[in-house]
Amino acid sequence: MATIIVQPSGAEIFISPDDTVLAGLQKAGYACTVGCRRGGCGICKVDVLEGSFTYNRRVADSVITATERADGTCLSCRAVPDEDLTIQMRDASLRLVNPLLGQLNAKARERARAASTAPEEQ
Ligand code: FES
Repeated sequence: MATIIVQPSGAEIFISPDDTVLAGLQKAGYACTVGCRRGGCGICKVDVLEGSFTYNRRVADSVITATERADGTCLSCRAVPDEDLTIQMRDASLRLVNPLLGQLNAKARERARAASTAPEEQ
């Protein structure tokens, strides 16, 4: 499990293993600009400021160029975080459209944090 911090708002989103960045945002109740959701259009690009990710399927060079791969550009519909990520949205389109999902996500994040800081049982 990983956490995604979304700039410029600073929203903190808890993401399940194997979920893409986009899926994590949507499961946490957020809506943002998307297109094909299959790695073909490039509309879902965000900038990764910290952390690393792996694409769950091959992404064509026509969608993410070599320069973009090197500068932290991330195709959010295909990227699965390897660790905690800080991302920058390219527009102001991220909106919390389902506050209940946002609350459930925040509680899951708190539980995971508590579990990771709890002393180990012997
Ligand atoms: S939504 Fe089309 S590439 Fe991600």
